[in-house]
Amino acid sequence: MKRVAILLSGGGSNMVALCRDMVGDHPCRPVLVASNDPEAGGLQRAAEMGIATAAVDHRPFGKDRAAFEAALLGPLLAAKPDILCLAGFMRVLTPAFVARFEGQMLNIHPSLLPKYPGLHTHARALAAGDTEAGCSVHEVTAVLDDGPVLGRATVPVLFGDTAETLAQRVLFKEHQLYPAVLRRFATGTKGLLEL
Ligand code: GRF
Repeated sequence: MKRVAILLSGGGSNMVALCRDMVGDHPCRPVLVASNDPEAGGLQRAAEMGIATAAVDHRPFGKDRAAFEAALLGPLLAAKPDILCLAGFMRVLTPAFVARFEGQMLNIHPSLLPKYPGLHTHARALAAGDTEAGCSVHEVTAVLDDGPVLGRATVPVLFGDTAETLAQRVLFKEHQLYPAVLRRFATGTKGLLEL
């Protein structure tokens, strides 16, 4: 069994989708859900699912990302994860942290990478007049929202879409894509998964 730790900052719907999938013959089990925000809804949801949680508030560390990460590494390394999944984790990680988990860390991003790294992806897709939007799961490298794309799911942009309606449609796909990519990643299946 591979041990999976999940980092989040928000409501944790992707975390829930991942954890619901990690049952039965799945090659992984969730061992920790950690957040930089002690109030993150995802921590509560993880606890309700019986998963160990940890909160390391980033605010006392100010701009000192390395010190925050050192604190986060405490509970994280104690959980001995084989795979680290970022699921709506809103802190930029230092190259040193990323290097430590090289080849073991995945992220989901709500755009069809390499388009729209960073924030406000849906508004940017609408402003560009794109007819398709979607989400990507990629390996995490030191460059934000970069790294090899392992899976991608597309949705149509519909007439009258707002950033909110588009985000909802994409999020639904995220919940299918991320678990599917994690399964493949854990078993070493190569190639791009397209949903
Ligand atoms: C998702 O859209 C994810 O792609 C983005 O942040 C959002 C997190 O949502 N990076 P949730 O916390 O998983 O519900």
